[in-house]
Amino acid sequence: MYYYRHDLAVIHDQGFSFHADRCAPGILELLAPVRDGLVLEIGCGSGALTRHLLAAGYRVVATDGSPDMLSLARAALGPDADLRRITLPDEPLPAADAIVSVGHVISYLPDAAAIDLAVVAMAGALRPGGVLAFDVLDLAYGEIPPGRESSGRVAEDWAIVARYEAPAPDLYVRDITTFVPDGHGAWRRDHERHENVLVDTSRLAGLLAEHGVDASVRPSFGTAQLPPGLHVVAGSKRVRR
Ligand SMILES: C[S@@+](CC[C@H](N)C(=O)[O-])C[C@H]1O[C@@H](n2cnc3c(N)ncnc32)[C@H](O)[C@@H]1O
Repeated sequence: MYYYRHDLAVIHDQGFSFHADRCAPGILELLAPVRDGLVLEIGCGSGALTRHLLAAGYRVVATDGSPDMLSLARAALGPDADLRRITLPDEPLPAADAIVSVGHVISYLPDAAAIDLAVVAMAGALRPGGVLAFDVLDLAYGEIPPGRESSGRVAEDWAIVARYEAPAPDLYVRDITTFVPDGHGAWRRDHERHENVLVDTSRLAGLLAEHGVDASVRPSFGTAQLPPGLHVVAGSKRVRR
């Protein structure tokens, strides 16, 4: 099983790529020290950030756990894009000069231990001097503001309704129903329940330091503001002399 099956993947691509677009300028600035290096993207989805990386001239290996997302990325980025299905936290990551990820990808893992495993795997795959930058949901994300317990959006050929709850301090649930045309004049309905694990993100810098990466937890990649509780972890791998 994987998150982001076909219908939600299409809706995310068409309606929710704005987060990657906002994060891209800050990520490109962070990548400046590895200008000629290989960038590994984790959880690329339909390629919303990937296209910015490629347009800036980076060599990119873009990975995701959802084959439906990867099909959309293939359609958007063309046959030459290096797209691979890699599911965190257990599948090995290729060595890279930078590892980037947007859209709180590691928060989709089943528990905090799995998130730690993924973070350690990223640190291990980074080459010395390499850049790490990803966003992740903090415990603070579970404080759902009044009136923000649900949302809905309607476009010409899709609709989405989501309900949000935090049944435990470290769990944020999105209960998502999607509607897309079924090709026969009616609407097809699908449903996904996304369980995001919330972590104390201040712990991650210490974990990364143990694995050779000097990182800090920040409110954003650059200047673009992120939603409260969505934190950025960014840093670089030590060069041993
Ligand atoms: C909110 S989407 C963000 C997609 C893309 N980065 C963007 O900003 O548009 C989260 C992505 O994480 C991927 N994902 C979730 N769990 C994963 C896992 N265990 N391993 C790899 N990818 C995963 C999903 O397939 C999805 O594409």
